[in-house]
Amino acid sequence: MKRTIALWCIIALFGCYSSLQGQPRIPYLAKQGAATQLMVADKPFLMLGGELGNSTASALAELDNVFAKLQQINLNTVLTPAYWELIEPEEGKFDFTSIDAAINAARTHNLKIVFLWFGSWKNSMSCYAPAWVKENYKNYPRAVTESGKPLEIMSAFNQNNLEADKRAFVQLMKHIATTDKEQQTVIMVQVENEIGMLGSAREYTPEANKLFKADVPKPLIDYLLKNKKTLRPQLFKQWETNGFKTKGNWTSIFGEGLETEEFFMAWHYGLYVQEIAQAGKQVYPLPMYLNAALNSRGRKAGQYPSAGPLAHLLDIWRAAAPAIDFLSPDIYDPGFEDWLAQYHVNGNPLFVPEIRFHNANAIRALYAFGEHDAMGFSPFSIEDVAEPEKYPLTHSYNMLQQLSPLLAKIQGKGQTNSIILTGETKEKVVNRGNYTFTFTHFFSLPWENNKDVSTWNETGAILIQLSEKEFIVAGSGVVVTFGNTRKDGTITGISSIDEVELQDGKMLPLRRLNGDQDHQGRHLRIPVDGWSIQHVKLYDYK
Ligand code: DGJ
Repeated sequence: MKRTIALWCIIALFGCYSSLQGQPRIPYLAKQGAATQLMVADKPFLMLGGELGNSTASALAELDNVFAKLQQINLNTVLTPAYWELIEPEEGKFDFTSIDAAINAARTHNLKIVFLWFGSWKNSMSCYAPAWVKENYKNYPRAVTESGKPLEIMSAFNQNNLEADKRAFVQLMKHIATTDKEQQTVIMVQVENEIGMLGSAREYTPEANKLFKADVPKPLIDYLLKNKKTLRPQLFKQWETNGFKTKGNWTSIFGEGLETEEFFMAWHYGLYVQEIAQAGKQVYPLPMYLNAALNSRGRKAGQYPSAGPLAHLLDIWRAAAPAIDFLSPDIYDPGFEDWLAQYHVNGNPLFVPEIRFHNANAIRALYAFGEHDAMGFSPFSIEDVAEPEKYPLTHSYNMLQQLSPLLAKIQGKGQTNSIILTGETKEKVVNRGNYTFTFTHFFSLPWENNKDVSTWNETGAILIQLSEKEFIVAGSGVVVTFGNTRKDGTITGISSIDEVELQDGKMLPLRRLNGDQDHQGRHLRIPVDGWSIQHVKLYDYK
């Protein structure tokens, strides 16, 4: 607790110091209504991001071309690895060439950077640990499974491992502070990458076995008691089933089984990461988060990367690692809308640091910002885009770029919604005040010939309420009809629709849409493969 208070004092002092020097505060998180926003140069910043494939940022000579392409896709932020093995090729000797190259290329192309610390763990494994760590496994021991099999996963229970990772991370943060405090190209840091045990739900090193038999630490018990009403359901249930005990070892408090082993392991991963993040923030307090490989497809703990920053473990991670600001999902599995809802919970803001490279990401980005006040969105392997001008995300990021000042102003205030439509879910209804908005897939129009729903691509839109009767609809492939919930026979009509563009937050009309373009006042529509921001005013008559 004391350490946390001290850390916040340092962060606050850092902020004041920067302001006194006439520099903007270094990036930080701030609350606005129900949203948490990333503040860059003291203004909310919506990350229109993309993550580089794992090895791209090591090809330094190509970075400039790659980043030029990202700019063409309308990204404002690139998520790029900071590789431990390249930064500390020899123990204690640091080389920040790869970091400087990324920062310089980003500056040239007007991009911000989120560095991904590929330290002790990358997709569970320890493949980015420098060779001098990997090879000296006696000094830097591995996790072992129940049968005693060593894994290529550094043990989370070993002080040498922790100290080596922490030392390198602190050097990285110092370097960023020294080279970037003024320009602030680097705006956030991901600590490790997709932490999680594989092969067993927990480690079976002697230290892990000893701690598993010991009492559940008091800080976790205190957290459970304090947050009893909002605990994630699985944790709550395990605790409840075992009588809400407040003293005892892991199995007496949470029961026997893989779930408990996963809780235990998450706690210890959390303690390890806490030390690293806290030490890094002490030298340069950028916001820091974790990303998770998701536990889908009905697998059991140990079969998926277990004990990582998963939604059902949110409380354990929060209790163990308060220096981590939030947890984020990497979405490679079906169920996009559901995953977002699982992570945008109990004050955990939504940031999608990775999502499988797919054309539908253009629509999904709108959904993340419109439905979940997202802080950012970032498809993986973004440099694979072949032709930026034809890529759907380029268009949706263009719209989001235009909408960003407005969204930044209203995030957290409940003025936006978003929907996704497919061949299976062709229609969705949104209510706002007295009005109803029925969104249908563009191919539902009676005069459209494409009746094979299996070929309908994902379409969707963001809906923004500007005043009682005034709205923005921005998206692709939707038809919107308007109604109301009044029971007195009132009918809602379209007063006007303008296609607009936004410059610095100001709405400028491009053309009035009427006649055939709004079906003689019956609906608003945006074709499939078309991208448009439309400003609609409604009126009522009887
Ligand atoms: C998720 C990881 O975080 C990425 O680094 C990458 O390995 C992708 N999976 C898979 O391509």
